[in-house]
Amino acid sequence: MGIKLIKISTIYFLIGVALGYGMSISHIYALSPVHVHINLLGWTALTLAGIVYYLFPGAGNSKLGKWHFWLHNLGLPIMMGSLAVMIVTKNEALAASTAVGASLVMISVVLFTINIWKNVKPKN
Ligand code: HEM
Ligand code: HEM
Repeated sequence: MGIKLIKISTIYFLIGVALGYGMSISHIYALSPVHVHINLLGWTALTLAGIVYYLFPGAGNSKLGKWHFWLHNLGLPIMMGSLAVMIVTKNEALAASTAVGASLVMISVVLFTINIWKNVKPKN
């Protein structure tokens, strides 16, 4: 999962930076929370997780690693997409799907933590 995470994190990076760039040019900062979390939960957190998984393939190739990968990469686009549409349309109903996405990300981070404690071991 290491290399997949590193590659996918650059997509979040590209979108996050493009959004920051757009906000700077337009002087419209409404999507700031989307920019922040795409960059931090998408780029920073996932590229770090990818490096850890690359260094410790026992963690990267475990079932926990796969569940972490899929729940994070399902939850984050749902969370960010819903939040962005909610901010733009001012439709508060989208808070529910934002929360669903955030909950998936939350679960994925719990699994990541268990995975690291269980499967990251010193190399002999
Ligand atoms: C060319 C790249 C980037 C541009 C042009 C940019 C632009 C911006 C802008 C315009 C804001 C809103 C400032 C405001 O509301 O006053 C912002 C906030 C923020 N950006 Fe970026 N950004 C970039 C890259 C990044 C990256 C790579 C990260 C994280 C890894 C990041 C993290 C943040 C954070 C945490 C905030 C919120 C700061 C706060 O609330 O005080 N940004 N950025
Ligand atoms: C599922 C996980 C997360 C949820 C649900 C979440 C939720 C939130 C919420 C509700 C806010 C306040 C937004 C506002 O007042 O406009 C916030 C702000 C912020 N969060 Fe998160 N967060 C999460 C993960 C993270 C992570 C992992 C980081 C950093 C690595 C982070 C960094 C920040 C920053 C820098 C701000 C301030 C942004 C600003 O001033 O616009 N968050 N977050």
